[in-house]
Amino acid sequence: MMEKTRVLVLYYSMYGHIEALAQEVAAGAAEVEGVEVVIKRVPELIPEEQARQIGIKLDQKAPVATVEELPEYDAIIVGTPTRFGNMAAQMRNFWDQTGPLWLQGALIGKVGSAFTATATQHAGHESTILSIHTTLLHHGMIIVGVPTNCVELTQIDEVAGGSPYGAGVITGGDGSRMPSEIERRIARVQGRHVAQIARQLKVGRLQAQAA
Ligand SMILES: Cc1cc2nc3c(=O)[nH]c(=O)nc-3n(C[C@H](O)[C@H](O)[C@H](O)COP(=O)(O)O)c2cc1C
Repeated sequence: MMEKTRVLVLYYSMYGHIEALAQEVAAGAAEVEGVEVVIKRVPELIPEEQARQIGIKLDQKAPVATVEELPEYDAIIVGTPTRFGNMAAQMRNFWDQTGPLWLQGALIGKVGSAFTATATQHAGHESTILSIHTTLLHHGMIIVGVPTNCVELTQIDEVAGGSPYGAGVITGGDGSRMPSEIERRIARVQGRHVAQIARQLKVGRLQAQAA
């Protein structure tokens, strides 16, 4: 029997929007036969007492990832809220510990993808995703976004996050807007697309090795 293709959805979420989108991305990836999906978070850097005071969502069930486990996956899909157009410090901090993996070339040839959340429509959606892509490219990963045959990408009937760069949610200034159905659908398409490509690459590699 062919080895499973392993997809990691790795996220940081302060108020739950990215957590919700991560679950949709994972559900889309899980639709692909032969794929096993794992959802994990990066560690919080804000002390617990302060986190409670500012209302950080502390009941998130996903286990915390370690840097050392990244090579176990065939694809890594990274989700982070925007911070002034960049990834959140918690996610940056995690990737800044991957120097040893970079030295070993441990992530070369794996599939990488990214999704985000912003408070407003034009406040860093694409630049945040690109900030993740940059890091993944330095690791030699193959970048995958949302395929442009995803019809939700071109709708203009309602405000929605998501672009060919990656899925996204617009949270509203007060964070009251959770992912809409359109945003959830784009996230599922992204998860499925990444998983399909990772599966095809893995099957191709295993067949080439066996030949
Ligand atoms: C320090 C800081 C900087 C932020 N910068 C931006 C920004 O540049 N553009 C924007 O639309 N939202 C910005 N936000 C809002 C967050 O992106 C929003 O709270 C987040 O997407 C919610 O996702 P989460 O619920 O998964 O934490 C910022 C929030 C904080 C705390």
